[in-house]
Amino acid sequence: MVKKILMICLGNICRSPIAEGVMIETIEQAGASAEWKVDSAAIGGWHVGNSPDHRAMKIMKNHNIDYKNKARQIKKDDFLQFDYIFGMDDENMDDLNRLAPANSKAKLLLLGDFGLEKSERIIEDPYYQRGDAGFEKAYQQCVVACAAFLKDATAGKV
Ligand code: 4NP
Repeated sequence: MVKKILMICLGNICRSPIAEGVMIETIEQAGASAEWKVDSAAIGGWHVGNSPDHRAMKIMKNHNIDYKNKARQIKKDDFLQFDYIFGMDDENMDDLNRLAPANSKAKLLLLGDFGLEKSERIIEDPYYQRGDAGFEKAYQQCVVACAAFLKDATAGKV
């Protein structure tokens, strides 16, 4: 059965598109594309229908990720359709736990809890930072965390 991953952040224009792109790339490189489906969405509705922030697009392009998805807001049905829903920071996790319906089937997980040092486990919001550095950092955190999650999931640990 295909397992489904949903990457969540506040706006779905910075961190979660990068996390989605990196997870797809990680799965492809592992030759496991037939077994996984990956999407992303926002907690808030401000940027629905928009492409990611130009800095997120630039960082993905630099790393050969061809990203085409548009922002959407999370909905109740996502908690029934997806197996794993990942937040990027503690605020995302609070929101996900608050929004989850009683019959949610999804595991709600902090992406940075996979493979990252304790001090690096929060993928900080780069939207209000100047320049690209916060986006590159988010990308690098996602590379480590996505690989570590896929390893754990493949081993049946999560
Ligand atoms: P993201 O960054 O959650 O990583 O997509 C943000 C983008 C936009 C806003 C906040 C965070 N905003 O408030 O518009």
